Amino acid sequence: MGITNAKQIRKADYPVDPVFIERWSPRSFLEKEIPEETFMGVLEAARWAPSSLNKQPWRFIVARNKQDRERFLSFINEGNQVWCEKAPAFVLVVSDQDNGASHSFDAGAAWGNLSIQAAKSGLITHAMGGFDKEKARTVVNIPDNYELHAVIAIGYQGEKQALPEQIQEREQPSDRRPLQESIFEGKME
Ligand SMILES: Cc1cc2nc3c(=O)[nH]c(=O)nc-3n(C[C@H](O)[C@H](O)[C@H](O)COP(=O)(O)O)c2cc1C
Repeated sequence: MGITNAKQIRKADYPVDPVFIERWSPRSFLEKEIPEETFMGVLEAARWAPSSLNKQPWRFIVARNKQDRERFLSFINEGNQVWCEKAPAFVLVVSDQDNGASHSFDAGAAWGNLSIQAAKSGLITHAMGGFDKEKARTVVNIPDNYELHAVIAIGYQGEKQALPEQIQEREQPSDRRPLQESIFEGKME
């Protein structure tokens, strides 16, 4: 009823595995815990991402119990708090700046794997750049050589109607620009 499936709205121009179309970033989370094996499987997928020189510069700071989740909420922007507070798990993705020039690119690949595995496991993910990075660094004890990228809310999708009214209208899968606008054959200009 109130659960939107992306495949009802999105259309791929070329055949791809359905998971790429079905993954999207809802904001309505059920207050339902994620089984340990399922949650660890999502991080396992991130672990197998490719990285420059196989340095694996990513690190994942996980918040699942009440105390840790409240600590995370203390540095997440209010605009995100209103919908993500029900999520049963948060993962802060950071990467080691001293470990490879492409640490951000590599951490992005890990997040990509994580989000796709989550979708395959029946979970939803929603990345957030809207958080106070300096506060997070202090609250979570992150050494200076790590760059903070995003907090990922992970859990099970709830109904759109469970969200505060003012964000219900945003609760639908977005589209993408045509593929041809992102591709340059041989030369960019
Ligand atoms: C690094 C990153 C930061 C993001 N920050 C926020 C955020 O602070 N708040 C929010 O509501 N969505 C945030 N998003 C979600 C994006 O808006 C969303 O992924 C994008 O619009 C594409 O939609 P889709 O994921 O549903 O396909 C973020 C996504 C990424 C990858």
